[in-house]
Amino acid sequence: MRVLVTGGAGFLGSHVVDALIARGDDVMVVDDLSTGDRANVDRQADFSVADVADLSALQRGIGSRRIDGVVHCAARTKVVESMTKKDLYERVIVGGTRNVVETSRRLGASIFVNISTGGAIYGETPTCADETVPVDPQSNYGRFKAKAEKLVESSDLRAVTLRLANIYGPRQRTDLEGGVIAIFIGCWKRGEPITVFGDGSYQRDYVYVADVVESVLGALSGTHAGVFNIGTGVATSVNELVSALTSILGPTLSCGPLASRSSMRRKACSMSHSVVPIADAAPRPSVPPRERRACTTSSAPTAGAPDRCRSRRGPIDPSTALSASRHAARRPVPSRPPDRPASFLHPYVL
Ligand SMILES: NC(=O)c1ccc[n+]([C@@H]2O[C@H](COP(=O)([O-])OP(=O)(O)OC[C@H]3O[C@@H](n4cnc5c(N)ncnc54)[C@H](O)[C@@H]3O)[C@@H](O)[C@H]2O)c1
Repeated sequence: MRVLVTGGAGFLGSHVVDALIARGDDVMVVDDLSTGDRANVDRQADFSVADVADLSALQRGIGSRRIDGVVHCAARTKVVESMTKKDLYERVIVGGTRNVVETSRRLGASIFVNISTGGAIYGETPTCADETVPVDPQSNYGRFKAKAEKLVESSDLRAVTLRLANIYGPRQRTDLEGGVIAIFIGCWKRGEPITVFGDGSYQRDYVYVADVVESVLGALSGTHAGVFNIGTGVATSVNELVSALTSILGPTLSCGPLASRSSMRRKACSMSHSVVPIADAAPRPSVPPRERRACTTSSAPTAGAPDRCRSRRGPIDPSTALSASRHAARRPVPSRPPDRPASFLHPYVL
């Protein structure tokens, strides 16, 4: 399969690229390197520096070769910055998505995987939101992601939109928002105090990058279309996150509670409306019963073995993010053996 990955030099995109190359796909990456890094991109991928919001630059960058599928990751992703740089965010997220959709149609793509957000699109919800919950984005980032979803939906491409929870894992940058696990681990490693906003009770759904990548591959290869939440369906508070990290890394320097940020939502957690089984292109271990609870709140838009599901980890497994260096892994991030407890230190980390 020849696959175009936009934003393929970024955190998530580069893991998608690695996984596609590992399964033998022909991969083309377009990225403007605004937050991505060329060193994240496997040398086997064709790489073009281009701004997705500039249609002619995008088309020059991609050329005229046919593509079979697209994974559209490119975006500006800072929620707070989106409030002060509205035009930039609209241009990249809405305009960029329009251009990538148009180019994908022109080059004959038969599947478009649109990377969206669960965390910023549902607004404040008392329980974990499933896909039937109406969107209520509170930031420009979330509003433009919602608009981009509509653009994708109204195209005549077969399209899957994945609304992702908060992702963590290797190559996550500590200087961008949302990477609280990478940020905390960086503080731990440097022996610096961590900063917790408010009382640490606000909750997020944290999902490991390898699980997200699996759902992207499933979406590319399956027959589904529509919107799917990708997460664990388990809300984890910052205090719980600190405890989990403390159990692995030892005590941190103390952190004083700070005033809440005005943009801070109490809870951001999504779950899938129904469990959709995964594709079974390659044999995988089935999910042990004690991990099924996490499975039933997570889905992947693919067809296949009914007794398996996408997010095999529990709500959080920070140990898998310990090697959070941007260039840490060239190969696809290995999955944590499903028969090990969440605190198991993954061989990749060691
Ligand atoms: N990280 C998360 O927790 C999370 C959660 C939900 C959704 N997402 C979505 O996942 C996608 C990837 O995010 P990420 O966390 O890997 O962030 P990232 O910043 O590492 O990746 C984004 C990539 O897009 C590139 N890019 C930005 N503007 C571009 C433009 N105009 N033209 C071409 N390339 C451009 C950047 O250089 C970068 O390589 C984004 O669409 C983001 O909204 C991420």
